[in-house]
Amino acid sequence: MKVSVLGYGTVGFGVCSMLEKAPGLELVSVLVRPGKADKPFKVTSIDEIVNDPEVEAVVEVMGGVEPAYSYVSAALAAGKHAVTSNKALVAAHGPELAKLAKEKGVGFLFSAACGGAVPFLHNLALAVESDRILSLGGILNGTTNFMLDSMQRSGMDYADALKEAQALGYAEADPTADVSGLDALRKIMLACAVAYDKLPCEGFSLEGIESVTAADVAHFQSKGLVLRLVVRGGESEDGKLYAFVQPVLLSASSPEASVLKNFNMAKYRGENAGDIVLIGQGAGRYPTASAVVRDLSDIVHGRREMMKPDCVRVAADNSVCECRYYVRLPADLADALPFAEKELDGALCRGVTEALAVTDMHARVKALRAGGAAVFFAAMEE
Ligand code: HSE
Repeated sequence: MKVSVLGYGTVGFGVCSMLEKAPGLELVSVLVRPGKADKPFKVTSIDEIVNDPEVEAVVEVMGGVEPAYSYVSAALAAGKHAVTSNKALVAAHGPELAKLAKEKGVGFLFSAACGGAVPFLHNLALAVESDRILSLGGILNGTTNFMLDSMQRSGMDYADALKEAQALGYAEADPTADVSGLDALRKIMLACAVAYDKLPCEGFSLEGIESVTAADVAHFQSKGLVLRLVVRGGESEDGKLYAFVQPVLLSASSPEASVLKNFNMAKYRGENAGDIVLIGQGAGRYPTASAVVRDLSDIVHGRREMMKPDCVRVAADNSVCECRYYVRLPADLADALPFAEKELDGALCRGVTEALAVTDMHARVKALRAGGAAVFFAAMEE
C-alpha cells in the first residue's frame, strides 16, 4: 500500500523511517511546512497528496485539530485510507471522520492516539465484537508517568522532570495537555467511543499533576505509597457513561506502581474475558510510530473500523463513581472537607476523606482553589 505522511515531527520522522523497511508498505510523499521541502519526496501542499492517484493511504501525525481535520477529511473524501496518532483530532471529530470513511469504503484507524505502542484500542475494537466491556482505565500518559516516577525514584523536581520528558520526545507540543490530564482524558474519550459507541464530550472530571510538590512525593514515599495519574471510564448499570482523570495513591505493591518511566498500563474488563492488562511504552518516537505502522498493516489486511460510524456524543456522568480522597490543604481549611482522618503538619493539613462522588470532590476542590487555596488531592486506591 502506498502511503503519504502528513507531518514530519517526532512521530512523522519515526513513521517514515519504519516505512523504509515495512513489508507491503511504501512511502510516496511527506507533507512538510513551506521552506522545508528539501528532499524529493517532501511536498508542501495537501492537494499534491489528495490529488495523487498513486497514494492509497495517508498517515496524519501533525497534531492539533486544524488543519488536520480538513486534511484527513479531504483524503477520506478522495477515497484514501487514513491513520492518525492525533487524539485531539479524533476526540473533536472522530464520529464525522468514521462516518465519512464508512461512506467511502476506506479505513480510519487511530490506535496510536491512545497508549503509544500499547495495542489498547486495537484490542478493544476486537474485544467489543464478541464481549461487553464493563470498564476501562489505567495509566495512559507517558509524560506524567515519567515525571512522577522520576520525582519518586530519583528525587527530581517537577520542572526538571518535565524538561527531561520534553527532551525525550514524550510530551505534547504544549505540555500543559500532559500535566493537566487533558491528554489522558482525550485517550479515555477515544476508548469509551470504541467500547460503547458513545464519545463523551462534556461533564468530565479532570485533575492532572500540576499541584503535586516534591514534598508531597517524599511524604507518600515515607508512607509506602506511589502516585500515578490514572484514567477511568465505563458504563454504569443504568447506562450512564463515566470518564475521568485524577491522580491516585497506590500501595507500592499494586500493579500500577510498577509502571515506570514512559510506560503506560491500559486495562479493560470484559464481561466474559475478565481483566485484560496491556503494558508498554506509551510515548516516544518509535513506540508511537510502531502503532501507526501496525494500523497501516491492519488496513492492508482488511480492517476498516475502530470507531463505529453511528458513534454518538454524550455527556459523562461521574457522579456514579465514588472514591476516598487523600488531600493536602492549608491547615485553616482543615474543616472544609468531610475528612475521615486528618493530621496537622505545620501550616498544612493532610487527610483522607470519606467516600465522595468524583464530581462532588472535583467541584469542592475547584471552589477551594477559587478562594485562593493551594490544594492537592488524589484518590486512594480501593
Ligand atoms: N504526550 C503523550 C504522552 C504522547 O506523554 O503520553 C503519547 O500520546
